[in-house]
Amino acid sequence: MLADETRRRHVGDAVHLRGLIEISNHCVRECGYCGLRAANRSLKRYRMTADEIMACTAAAVEFGYGTVVLQSGEDDGIRQRWLSDIIRKIKSDTNLAVTLSLGERPDEDLAAWRVAGADRYLLRFETSDPVLYRLIHPPRPGRASDRFAILKKLRELGYEVGSGVMIGIPGQTYGSLADDIEAFRRLDLDMIGVGPYISHPATPLAKHAALRPIPPDQQVPNSELMTYKVVALTRLVRPDANIPSTTALATLNKESGRELGMSRGANVIMPNLTPPQYRILYEIYPSKACLFETAEDCRSRLKNRILAMGRTVGQGPGGRGRP
Ligand code: 5AD
Repeated sequence: MLADETRRRHVGDAVHLRGLIEISNHCVRECGYCGLRAANRSLKRYRMTADEIMACTAAAVEFGYGTVVLQSGEDDGIRQRWLSDIIRKIKSDTNLAVTLSLGERPDEDLAAWRVAGADRYLLRFETSDPVLYRLIHPPRPGRASDRFAILKKLRELGYEVGSGVMIGIPGQTYGSLADDIEAFRRLDLDMIGVGPYISHPATPLAKHAALRPIPPDQQVPNSELMTYKVVALTRLVRPDANIPSTTALATLNKESGRELGMSRGANVIMPNLTPPQYRILYEIYPSKACLFETAEDCRSRLKNRILAMGRTVGQGPGGRGRP
């Protein structure tokens, strides 16, 4: 109730739609929770062509979305120049805001893409607990993995910056989740996405219940209810942030997870624009919501749901509107 009221007062009734394009499922990392991890050899890998990406952005324009989110695994095959050209083309052909979500990339790439016109970057810190983070997120050999430093860099480069965490990672305690929410308060984030951890059978985390032992009564559940609580608390600590009702949440409750997230503080939805033949391969966790819907179905259903809740569909890019 309080979170919904705070949302209404600070960011209004508009629900912003961001068209998600999963441009590549290649990944060099070995994150303990994610189905795209390099060691998952049973996954067929793809990388979309520039033309395929442009076709999806045309669909975003047709559907009236204000933003496209280009997301991928950490894919060294996504070259700086190649993506800069795509960003430039989207920015010159359309009025879309461009959000990137491509993992931990070198500063030079982030800077070049910003110059090319990218507006926002999403990089979840996943957990603020340094011990748990290292356990689930091994660094690339010879490289540091400090997502807080990258978030700071993104801010300096002039991006709108988004981050977030998973809820209910094995080994995550209530104390560390409270620290995550404190971190949302402390970091000046424009966007904050939180979703339940969903076990993927091809990952180490699914095989060993927890990588570090904690008392069972301290383990955060990866439940729908816990996710709503964290969405609501996130809205209370960051009243004017853009907060999505995430696909992972919709996956736990396909009937009404999206709506319930939206009534507990969320004001953003990210409908999937990825072509169906690739979408089934972007399996960060199993049975993702919207897996078999066309982009068109997804759009019309979401729009009806938003209107049925007495909310409106956001127009334009829907940035945080910082002064
Ligand atoms: N369950 C839930 N969320 C996941 N992500 C990755 N793997 C999983 C999983 N098994 C989330 C991470 C990542 C985002 C793109 O997807 O938080 O940042």
